[in-house]
Amino acid sequence: MKITLCVAVIVASLAAVDARLVPHAADFALHPSSATQTAPAKALLRVPLKTNPHFKRNARAAALKAMNKYKMFQSDSFRNNLASTGTVNLTDYENDLLYYGEITIGTPGQTVKLDFDTGSSDLWFASTLCARCIRKSRYDSNKSSTYHKDGRPWHITYGDGTSSSGICGTDDVTIGGLTIKNQTIEMANKISSGFITDPSDGILGLGFNKIVTVSGVKTPVDNMISQGLISEPIFSVFLGKGSNGGGGEYLFGGINHSKFRGTLATVPVDNSRGFWTVAVGSGSVGSSTISHFSGIIDTGSTLLMLPDLQASQVAKALNAIDNEDGTYTISCNVADLHDLKLNIGGNDYIVPAADLIFEQIGRNKCMAAFAYSGSNSVGILGDTFLKNNYVVFQQEVPPSVQIAAI
Ligand SMILES: *[C@@H]1O[C@H](CO)[C@@H](O)[C@H](O)[C@H]1NC(C)=O
Ligand SMILES: *[C@@H]1O[C@H](CO)[C@@H](O)[C@H](O)[C@H]1NC(C)=O
Ligand SMILES: *[C@@H]1O[C@H](CO)[C@@H](O)[C@H](O)[C@H]1NC(C)=O
Ligand SMILES: *[C@@H]1O[C@H](CO)[C@@H](O)[C@H](O)[C@H]1NC(C)=O
Repeated sequence: MKITLCVAVIVASLAAVDARLVPHAADFALHPSSATQTAPAKALLRVPLKTNPHFKRNARAAALKAMNKYKMFQSDSFRNNLASTGTVNLTDYENDLLYYGEITIGTPGQTVKLDFDTGSSDLWFASTLCARCIRKSRYDSNKSSTYHKDGRPWHITYGDGTSSSGICGTDDVTIGGLTIKNQTIEMANKISSGFITDPSDGILGLGFNKIVTVSGVKTPVDNMISQGLISEPIFSVFLGKGSNGGGGEYLFGGINHSKFRGTLATVPVDNSRGFWTVAVGSGSVGSSTISHFSGIIDTGSTLLMLPDLQASQVAKALNAIDNEDGTYTISCNVADLHDLKLNIGGNDYIVPAADLIFEQIGRNKCMAAFAYSGSNSVGILGDTFLKNNYVVFQQEVPPSVQIAAI
């Protein structure tokens, strides 16, 4: 508690140096005497809002600046009270094929639609340098007063063979109302044909910074944490189902308890390869057992990709036919199928039989929502899994996720 009060005084006196904040200095000074651990920090921010709404942004910026400078003195509870959360609503495109959200880049903000992807870590989008991106919203760095040149080239290739490349810059990036300063952005000047028809303008990577393709670049979530923008070093993902109205939500800095019914259980994450990898224990489908594997939690993958053995176990139990290209054909009749249960951290998480059907491709012929990954140990827990299970991602050491049935 002593540390909290001490820092509150430092913040108050530094904020008072800004001439525009002087009228509020007296209000700031009052708060250290209210002797609860959490109240001073909250009160500190609310005061300017009441007295003069125009000073809101300045007060917050001044307080955050001082807080970053004196971070070493702060208790966690103090930090939590000043920071907040940011919500991004998602659009569920073509019955759960992919989910995108809007963010703004630069000043004034230019809106781009991005595929939020926990399976990669680069932040890139179409720019005015990209002639092929004509149908996309293209960011124009010439129109942003907060843009700074970086000039390094970048190039990324994804697991599905799509790729994009361009040059780096830095700019302010606003995600769900939270403005990250000096974020490294990757402006595309080339995109592969797979991206031309894609409804999004680029990708927002939410993996670990280890796999950013440009060395030393911090991800947006890294910066949200280091710039003190979010209450907790977490983001939470809810993916809707097209069959149920679609949509979805990313909540940065918090957990939205109204988005799931089950109990959150914490599971350790192996991030040694830069991905959100969890141990998946043996599961079942109907009366058949599915062997354990390592699962990468990947919001950017549509399907549930199982290692070859596990995929064949599931396929056998559901009478699925191997299409010899990684996919399976299954019955379109839910009554012919079974729920899939995956055990993670000692708890069973279910993908209901109905969600093991991806789409109809012929008369009582459906494409399965599970596929094989071509690996003998690693699978991908994509949207098929995630639209049934809410996940909270926590990247600080030791990294973990919390999962609950939706
Ligand atoms: C997001 O969607 C919710 C409804 O689910 C709505 O209440 C909220 O205003 C939306 N937020 C934004 C920023 O569009
Ligand atoms: C910005 O303007 C300059 C000068 O007109 C031009 O050469 C450059 O390509 C523009 N940059 C972008 C990102 O459009
Ligand atoms: C902005 O970010 C770049 C690269 O991440 C870094 O080199 C630079 O010092 C930063 N500038 C400021 C003003 O923080
Ligand atoms: C949580 O979800 C509810 C219900 O969809 C929504 O109205 C609310 O805005 C969300 N809360 C946050 C903090 O995003």
